[in-house]
Order: sequence, then structure tokens, then C-alpha cells
Amino acid sequence: MARTSSLQNVSPIKYVSRSGSSRLMIESVSAEEIVKRTGSPVFAYSAEALSQRVKRFQEAFAPLHPQICYAVKACGNVHILRHLGAAGCWMDVVSGGELERTFLAGIPTERVVFAGVGKQEHEIRAALHGRHSLVWDALDGASKKMCAQRGPVHAFNVESEQELDVIATEAARLKVVARCHLRVNPDVDAKTHKYITTGTNRNKFGVSIDQAGRIFRAWRGKKWIRLCGLHTHIGSMIESPRPYVRCVQEVMKAVGHIERQGTRIESLDLGGGFGIDYSSGQSVALEEHAKALIPLLRERAEAGTRIAFEPGRWIVAEAGVLLVRVLYTKRTGRAHFAVVDAGMNALVRPALYGAFHFIWPARVQAGQGPRSLNEPEHVRGCMPQSVVGPICESGDFLALERMLPRLKRNDVLAVFHTGAYGMSMSNTYNDQPKPSEVLIRGKQIITIRTRDQVIDLMRGDLAASALM
Ligand code: LLP
Repeated sequence: MARTSSLQNVSPIKYVSRSGSSRLMIESVSAEEIVKRTGSPVFAYSAEALSQRVKRFQEAFAPLHPQICYAVKACGNVHILRHLGAAGCWMDVVSGGELERTFLAGIPTERVVFAGVGKQEHEIRAALHGRHSLVWDALDGASKKMCAQRGPVHAFNVESEQELDVIATEAARLKVVARCHLRVNPDVDAKTHKYITTGTNRNKFGVSIDQAGRIFRAWRGKKWIRLCGLHTHIGSMIESPRPYVRCVQEVMKAVGHIERQGTRIESLDLGGGFGIDYSSGQSVALEEHAKALIPLLRERAEAGTRIAFEPGRWIVAEAGVLLVRVLYTKRTGRAHFAVVDAGMNALVRPALYGAFHFIWPARVQAGQGPRSLNEPEHVRGCMPQSVVGPICESGDFLALERMLPRLKRNDVLAVFHTGAYGMSMSNTYNDQPKPSEVLIRGKQIITIRTRDQVIDLMRGDLAASALM
């Protein structure tokens, strides 16, 4: 099967050798220049890489005319959403907060689907009237009228019958028809990390395939609810097409059952989860997934069923790097450490999932530019070093005992494939402000999120002046 590695020369993020050294370039800007200009830690994304990924996804699934509903949770920066929206993506949101981000990014509400296992009434209302709740109170009557005309989201991906009840109540109150897709859980093990496996009958998501027929029967012909699609998502970082194939086979059984009862399934939303290569060869290429899935779905697509996917990681992970600076190097009894200025606060994936992220200095001697995402046995002068953050926990690491060129104070390191679930999962533990974010476009460094100030971390405390 075809496997890919993003350190190929075609990537907009690559090492370029010049006058005795090899430097990491993000498009036409060096990683060191980014840190010099914006400080560190900083997440840097390549606009070109983002566009390339969207295009490649569209091409891989072209026979299905796929609708890409980008999973905002992977990286929700408003400017990234705007960029992906312009590239043709719809958006998949899982909270009122993410919904608000799509509003701010100028994504039309009818291009948003609202998923999530715990939607609250106020979030459902915001998705039904499709207006900015952040600024609503400040608007005058005329503006409210204008905003109120934005209309509902394209669909709710509904996770339970109780949720359907709540959506129905709110929709009736607002006199808006809510289009709904029922999330079914096909009981397929995606064979990924247990925290991000979602499609087995032990997981909290969706309803079982057996329940689906009854729910569709019960909700047929309702005034404010239009239940007309199925949704599923079996997990994240799926490395082989097999679980998808089983999932689609199960879902198609449910489709047959529901349609025999007289409801036409207009939409099939098959979720996200496509894996990427964090280390060389870890995951099959997207095209392999597409090759396996297209024959199962082509006929439906040709008959007019809307086929949607919700990729998050696959679109943004490889388009982003986290740049950090070495604060100190030290040797304890047994191990060599590089203490850098961001750890589990900026990138929690190694601590939470034991995830591997390739790390390499932003500038190395010529010949030390990495050729693959594996441990670089071919590079001379490497030694095992752990890259750890400033947080007071031994679980705070980005890499343990990794073969790396000998690091020194003030070196800039790049943590690869951090465009997805990097910034969006970052936190402020130990009162560490979150990193900033920049979008690189050619030679341009565009700040898309400024660095938090320490005062930002205390805003809530200061606003609650009870004890002062
Ligand atoms: N759709 C639904 C309903 C989801 O729950 C998710 C991810 C996606 C789409 C997008 O999945 P993706 O294409 O990105 O795999 N924090 C974890 C990943 C959690 C995924 C949660 N749901 C990580 O860092 O690996």
C-alpha cells in the first residue's frame, strides 16, 4: 500500500541546505526567523500546505462529490477557518464556542453541521437562529433582524432521542425546521488509541444501529424536525481502511432498513478519523481509504445522496509545526535533557496519549537534515536526549530519550505535525500563557493569534471581586 511521509521535498515545510547548514523552511520563511520575529513558543502553519491538503482530499474522493466538513476541534483559529472555508470546506462544530468561531470566520451558517454529544439548549438555539450570541445583546433592533436572517445550520448530528426532543422544543419555539442526522454507532473497533475510539458499543456516542429504525419511525413527519440523514464517526487516527469499510457496510444496512420503512436517507456523514504519518509509514495514504470506500458509496452518491466527511487531523496536522526554544540543557544521574519553553501545556498529545511527534532542530549542519520521520540513525553526531517542558510534572515531555543532534541553550526546535490537536488542546497549567499562532503565506508571517498575556489568565479571578 502507498505510504507517505511529509518530509518529502514537495511539502511547503522542509529542510533546505545552504552554505554549510540545513534550515527548516515554512514556505519561504525560516523557522528561526519566525521565532526571532514573534518569540516562542509559536504554532506556525503553512497556508499552501492547508490548501494542498483540501485539494488532495477533494481529489481522492472525487467520484463521491464529497462534502468536506472540516472538524473545527482539530484547530479552530478563526483565520485558519476562513482560509479553509475559502478553499471549499464546510465546518463541523461541537459546541456553541466552535459555532461562534465559524460565525467570526464568515462561514455561512448553512455550511455548518453541529455535532457533539452534550449540546446545551442555548447552543442549540444559537445553531437554529445562526446569529452571534457574543454580540447579540449589544445589537440594536435592526441589526438583530439582519442577523436573525442568517438561518439555521445545515444539520444537527444528533446523538440521542432526548436530544431530538430538546431540538424539537427549541425549533418549535423559534419556528425553524431543524434538519437532523442521527449518529449511529456501528460497533466497529477502529483499532486506535482507546481514548479516541468512538464506534464500539461501549462508547458514549450515538445510538446503536438497532435503535435507529425505531427512532426514524417515531420522528417521521414531525413539523419542526426533519430527520433525513445518518452520521457516524468511529474514531480518530485510523491507520487502515478496514474499519471504515466495516463501518460503511453496517451503516448501509441501517440505510436499507430505514428506507424500507419509507424515509429517504438524503445525507450520509461518515465522520473523520483519517490517520497521518507521525512516524514514517504509520498510516496508509488517504487515497487507499478512498479506493476502499468509493465502490461502497458511488451508487448512492450518483443517486443524489450527499456524502460528507469530517476530517480534522488529516487536513491540518501536517500543515503546522510548534516552534520552541531550548532554555537549558542538563544531565541528571542517567539522562540528558533539553528543557524547552513549552511542554504539555502547549502540546498535550505526548503526555495524554503517549503520542510520537517528530522533533528536530530548526537549523542543523548540512547533512543533518532529516530524511524521514523515524529515529534518524543515519545522522551522525546524535545522542539520546529527552525534550521536556517547564511544567512541574514528570509527565511533561515532548519526547523521551530521542536521538537528536546535541542540543544547546537557545536552539530552536520544531515539533512536527502539530497543526491538529496542538493549539486547540493547549492549556494554561502552571499559569503558562498559551503559544501564539502565525500563518505563513510565501514570505509573509501573518500573526493569527497574539500571545496570551499573564493578565489574560487572571481575568476571571479579577472580575470576581467578592473577596477584595
Ligand atoms: N467528527 C467527529 C464526530 C469527531 O468526534 C472527530 C474527532 C472528528 C470528526 C475529527 O477527527 P479527525 O479527522 O481529526 O481524526 N485529541 C485527539 C483526537 C480526538 C478526536 C476527537 N474527535 C488527538 O490528539 O489525537
